[in-house]
Amino acid sequence: MDKFPPLPAPAPDDRYGVIYADPPWDYRGQLQHAGPGSGDSGGAIRHYPTVRLNDLMQLNVASIAADDSLLFLWATSPHLDQAIDLGKAWGFAWATVAFVWDKQRVNPGFYTMSQCELCLVFKRGRIPAPRGARNVRQLVSEPRADHSRKPSEVRRRIERMFPEQRKIELFAREIEIPGWDTWGEAVAHPQTGRSFWQERQERQERQEAAGT
Ligand SMILES: C[S@@+](CC[C@H](N)C(=O)[O-])C[C@H]1O[C@@H](n2cnc3c(N)ncnc32)[C@H](O)[C@@H]1O
Repeated sequence: MDKFPPLPAPAPDDRYGVIYADPPWDYRGQLQHAGPGSGDSGGAIRHYPTVRLNDLMQLNVASIAADDSLLFLWATSPHLDQAIDLGKAWGFAWATVAFVWDKQRVNPGFYTMSQCELCLVFKRGRIPAPRGARNVRQLVSEPRADHSRKPSEVRRRIERMFPEQRKIELFAREIEIPGWDTWGEAVAHPQTGRSFWQERQERQERQEAAGT
């Protein structure tokens, strides 16, 4: 069974200069709660499945990346090493921490109280040109919203940095994002108009009905 919906297949000149990804990291097989209003579920509360690192690594992100492109990748602090391995497996070289999101709330941690999430940046070839703003700040201070939802401010900052590059969000939960292509289980397939998530749900329902 396919683990992922098909990625777009852009012509070489249409490959993306900016790829922004927030993967469903696997935390020992637990379902992650996607929160209200998520994806194409019409406002229903649902959970999304997580994907193991080895499977995430199989996603052919290099096939959609321009020769000169950047990958912005959300990571969780305890799994930072996995995020760096994933960026490299997708064909990018590790660059630096692009954004630190201060969630304005603390959570207990084994060492210090945790409060921040990191968005890493990786590079393939050169930094894409032309560039936009060069004074974009690393620290984003925004309150948390739904579970795992990242602040839109990060997308806006990337747009200011690279206004002219083609951009795609991978593992997107919002289907329409002006100026961005989107891909993920919640995003409808252009031909069928149906999402990977809908098809998986229906497959499960059929299996349950058949008692398998
Ligand atoms: C961490 S969330 C992304 C949250 C999003 N960045 C936001 O700010 O709302 C990961 C997303 O990956 C999606 N997902 C889970 N399994 C997937 C798969 N096999 N293929 C594509 N997308 C998947 C889930 O639906 C979930 O919305």
